[in-house]
Amino acid sequence: MSEFPQGFAHFPLYFSPAEQQTLISAVKAGVAQAPFYQPTMPRTGTPLSVVMSNFGELGWVTDKDKGYRYEAVHPKNGKPWPVMPEILLKLWDEVSAYPAPPEACLINWYHKEKTSMGMHVDLDEHELRAPVVSVSLGDPAMFRIGGPKRGGPTQGIKLYSGDVVVLAGKARLCYHGVSKIFFGESALVPRGGRINLTMRRVNEVG
Ligand code: SIN
Ligand code: FE2
Repeated sequence: MSEFPQGFAHFPLYFSPAEQQTLISAVKAGVAQAPFYQPTMPRTGTPLSVVMSNFGELGWVTDKDKGYRYEAVHPKNGKPWPVMPEILLKLWDEVSAYPAPPEACLINWYHKEKTSMGMHVDLDEHELRAPVVSVSLGDPAMFRIGGPKRGGPTQGIKLYSGDVVVLAGKARLCYHGVSKIFFGESALVPRGGRINLTMRRVNEVG
């Protein structure tokens, strides 16, 4: 375990099955207002394998023309993102050790068998001292985390529904991604797959 970067924390089954249902209900309500859309890579326009939506004042979006950024409205319908569910604000208070609430919660839906997330560092936030707090729902996933440089050795950790991961301290600037979804193992997500909720603070406090 000591090989995980400083500031990495994994809380297995942080949320009970009943709480996971609450979270899924919140996602269903959220995406009724802000539907999942297909994000694309900057410049190339290559689709990501996940589909996305957001909760919160700001949502993380990406497309061919404008690239990675935060926006206050949905890229397709132009409406504000749905408010952050209480249960997520409570989680942030419990695990973030940061003095202000998260402004954004990205909803990633790994909706097909072959979905994954390439190794990356979350760097589109102005406030990099705040942690990234993420929740796994539905099918398990192989999460990988390496160091601050691209291409270095990585470690895998299997994340299950209800698990919470915190990337704080040095881990906040470490490469990470999802190499595999164990598709079809959980019945929690209505149309199958895995949902990952990632909360972030975008702007510095004050
Ligand atoms: C991400 O880092 O963007 C997603 C991580 C995950 O799906 O667990
Ligand atoms: Fe990330």
